[in-house]
Amino acid sequence: MSHNYTNDITINRAGSSKIDSVDFENLSFGNTFTDHMLVCDFKNGEWETPIIKAYEPFLLDPSAKVFHYGQAIFEGMKAYKDDSDDVWLFRPDENYHRFNKSAERLAMPEVTEEIFLGGLHKLLEIEKEWVKKGKGNSLYIRPFMIAIGPGVIAAPSTHYRFMIILSPARSYYSGEVKVIIAEHFSRAANGGIGAAKAAGNYSAQFYPTKLANEQGYQQIIWTDDATHTRLEEAGTMNVFFRIYDTLYTAPVSERILDGITRKSIIDMAERENIKVEV
Ligand SMILES: Cc1ncc(COP(=O)(O)O)c(C=O)c1O
Repeated sequence: MSHNYTNDITINRAGSSKIDSVDFENLSFGNTFTDHMLVCDFKNGEWETPIIKAYEPFLLDPSAKVFHYGQAIFEGMKAYKDDSDDVWLFRPDENYHRFNKSAERLAMPEVTEEIFLGGLHKLLEIEKEWVKKGKGNSLYIRPFMIAIGPGVIAAPSTHYRFMIILSPARSYYSGEVKVIIAEHFSRAANGGIGAAKAAGNYSAQFYPTKLANEQGYQQIIWTDDATHTRLEEAGTMNVFFRIYDTLYTAPVSERILDGITRKSIIDMAERENIKVEV
C-alpha cells in the first residue's frame, strides 16, 4: 500500500485500544469497530482539515437534513494483509470515483482525493493491527457522507460530514445464498438514484427483503421496474449467470450500481478467453 498524499491531517490518538477484547474468530459482520475514525467537515463552501480521532458517537442537531431528507451516501471496500504484513486495498481509486458520482447525484460536495484516499491510507497506517492475515480475514472500510446542516426545509444542506470507519470482518455471506426474483417491488427506476450508493437505496429494500426473508430467501434479485422481465442485480451485489460456457450480466445503467467486482470479473474473464455477454 504505497502512497504519496501530502495533506494535513490532525491526529488525536485514542487513550487505549480495544483490540485485545475482540474475538477475531467470531466476528459478526459490521458490528465491531476499530479504535479510530476519520472525520472531515464541509462548511462555508470548503473542506476543513480532516481529523483522525477515537471512534465515538457525536451530536447532531435534530433538524439535520440527513434525518429528514436522507442526504447520505457511502462506499464499501476492504483491506487485506499478506504474509509479509503488507496491507492491500482492491482498486480503491474506483471507490473514490464512485463516491463522488454518488455525491453529485445527491447534490452533495465532491470529496478530494487527499481527504478520501490520503485520509484512508493514514487511518489504515494507524489501525494496521486490526487487519488480520489469513484467508477470509479483512478489514471492512466504510467511507460515508451525511448532510449535517440544520433546517427542516427540503433543500440541500450547506454543511456536510465525511467520515471513514473501519470494521474487522470475515465473509459477508457464508454458504449458499437463496434468492427470489422481484416481480412487484423495484429497487430503482430510470432517472432515479439506483446508480448511486445512496443510503435510501438500501432502506427502500428493507421491507421487500423482510417479506423475502419470511419466505426463506436471503436476497432479492431485482428486475427492471417497467416489465420485471430483465434481471438486474441483487441488494448488495451485481450478479452473473453462467449458461454453458458464457457468463451473462446486466449492463450498467441508471438503475444499477456500477460494481467494481463486476468490472473486475469481466476483465478477468476476457483475459481468460471466457465469453461474457452484457
Ligand atoms: C447494490 C449493490 N450492487 C453491487 C455491489 C457490488 O459493488 P462492488 O463490487 O463495487 O463492491 C454493491 C456493494 O455493496 C451494492 O450495494
